[in-house]
Order: sequence, then structure tokens, then C-alpha cells
Amino acid sequence: MPPETPKATQPGVITIERHILMEQEKFPDSSGALTSLLYDIALAGKLIASRTQRAGLADILGSAGHENVQGEDVQKLDVYAQRTIYQLNDHTGRLCCMASEESKDIIPIPEQYPNGEYVLVFDPLDGSTNIDFNVAVGTIFAIFRRRSKSGPGRMEDVLQSGREIVAGGYLVYGSSTMLVYTTGHGVNGFTLDPSIGEFLLSHPNVRIPDQAKYYSVNQGYEKYWTEGVRRYTRWLQGEEGSSMSLSQRYIGSMVADVHRTLFGGGVFYYPADTKDPKKPTGKLRLLYEAVPMAYVIEQAGGYGSTGRGPILDVKPEALHQRTPVFIGNRDVVGKAEEFIAKYDR
Ligand code: AHG
Ligand code: MN
Ligand code: MN
Repeated sequence: MPPETPKATQPGVITIERHILMEQEKFPDSSGALTSLLYDIALAGKLIASRTQRAGLADILGSAGHENVQGEDVQKLDVYAQRTIYQLNDHTGRLCCMASEESKDIIPIPEQYPNGEYVLVFDPLDGSTNIDFNVAVGTIFAIFRRRSKSGPGRMEDVLQSGREIVAGGYLVYGSSTMLVYTTGHGVNGFTLDPSIGEFLLSHPNVRIPDQAKYYSVNQGYEKYWTEGVRRYTRWLQGEEGSSMSLSQRYIGSMVADVHRTLFGGGVFYYPADTKDPKKPTGKLRLLYEAVPMAYVIEQAGGYGSTGRGPILDVKPEALHQRTPVFIGNRDVVGKAEEFIAKYDR
């Protein structure tokens, strides 16, 4: 009697490769290029995770001895992460260009390689200042379709609003390494099993909890906030006639602070501040920090606001344009807009 052919059932263990393929089935006319691009990002994440896990040993702590386009001291792990993502994507023929926090201009595809249909924008290592203190850091990415017809990618291919995004997500290198991403059909989280080197589906169909639990902001800058943001913070602390009672958490890595907000509920915000003329609209960058994180949180039922309206509506005018960020539960973030509209003319 031949062994019975097992019925095609939902497998117990779903690797990210299998999950991406299942996602691809939702796009019947897809070429598979986006699927392969997501594989490449997962592979980059494994390589960066492996270096991050032994940062103290591999002489990649500390600064690389130069500043980036943001005027920030570049850490060695930033350089490694930037190089890893670039080298995994420069030759595949899937991208027409890239853009990174670490590169002043858009990054062209070397002329010996074909130009593809997609654009990858990324923050190779988010939370760099935390590397030397063994605090969670991450990688943030967003993928767009090119707008120009063919040839090398151009600025118009990169400066697209979040409404045009095709896929977005992040890796967080923390107590475990997770990859959380969405292609517009909900959010799924994968945890890296280092013993087999695979990202396994650990958090299917992530939804932000209805109940807000944490508020997350760098209160050290309170003196630079506007009236509306100060009053909003009082409201989160249960004053200003609110019944809120939240715990305050702030890690200083956007990826980790937003990851906790997504899974624990609440709000992360980095408001506009008036302390530094270099960053009148706050510190975080629209294209490769705010937009991907706002896209993920909105796909999980939350909201990402500039304090005046949806982050995803903002059309970038410049590669490294900054924006105030309020990301979390829709009702709690909406309150920030109310206080800012009322007190910050
Ligand atoms: P990056 O390391 O990519 O430059 O990003 C750091 C950002 C972000 O991760 C975090 O939310 C913010 O800097 C923290 O800034 P403060 O130290 O001013 O709070
Ligand atoms: Mn960052
Ligand atoms: Mn960075």
C-alpha cells in the first residue's frame, strides 16, 4: 500500500521565503521581482544581525571616524550595514536606484548591471548612537515602483509620497532579531532562528492593541517643544482632563520604540523642535524612517501623523527631508493633532 500523499495543509513552520511566495500569489501578474527583492532584504538582515550580535568583538564598535550627510558621526556598524544592503542589491536588475540615510544623493545602479522596476530607500542602521551600549538597533526600508520609464533611476523615482509605497518594514536587532513587513495586505512578523539561519513566521497578521499602554518621547527636549506638544504630553500623563494612565518608555532607537508601540499599544513621537535651526521640523527623516514606519502601523490599524496630517500624504521635496512624527494608536495620535491645531497656530 503506497504511503498516503499528505494533503496540502498550512505547514506548521512558515519561513519568510514561503510567506513571501504566498503573498506573491495575491499579485497574479507579478514578475516575482518584488518577491526576490524582499528575499534580498531578509538576507541583508541576517548578515547585519550576525555582525550586530557580536559587535563588541568584531571591531565594529565606535565611530568610523567620519561624518555622514546628516552631520552625524558614522558608526562602523552603519558602514557595514550600508555596504551589505548595497552589495546585495546593486547587481540583481530589480532596482533602478537606491537611496540611503548614509548617502547624500541617490545611489545609481552600476552601469554594468541592468536597471530594474523598483526603488529601495533605507536607513541601514537606525539607533546608531545606541550600538556601543548594547541597546536594540534596526534597519528600516521602503520599496516603490519607478516612475521614470527606463534607464538609470532619477530623483523623481525616489521622491514619492508614502501613498505610492509598494512594501515597507523594518528589522529590529534586539534580544531576538525580527523582520516586520507589509505589502499592503496586513503586517507579519518573523523571528530569526539563529540555529537554522531562517526567519520564521512568529507574529502573523499583527494588529496594534486597542488599549494604549506606553507613551514614548525624549522628554529631555521638552523645553524646545511647542505649547500644543507640551499640553499633549500632559494629557498623556493624565492631566489636561484626560483619563489616560500610560507608562513612559524611550529607547532612542526609532525602530525599537515603534516596534514596542506596534506590539504594546500607545504612541511614539519625535515632535518638531525649535532648539536646532538645522532640524526645525524635528530629527526624523520622512522618506526612510517616518514613511515606512507609518505604513506598517497603518496596515496594523494605527496611524502615523506629522502632527498636522498623515505622514503618508507628504510628498517629499528633498531626499533627507525631516518631519515631526507621531505614530501609534489612531485615537491617541489623533489627540496630538487636536492639541497642535488648538495651541500651535
Ligand atoms: P539614526 O541612528 O538612523 O540616525 O536614527 C536615530 C534616530 C532614531 O532612531 C531615534 O528615534 C532618534 O534618533 C533618537 O534621537 P534623540 O537621541 O535625539 O532622542
Ligand atoms: Mn534612523
Ligand atoms: Mn541610521
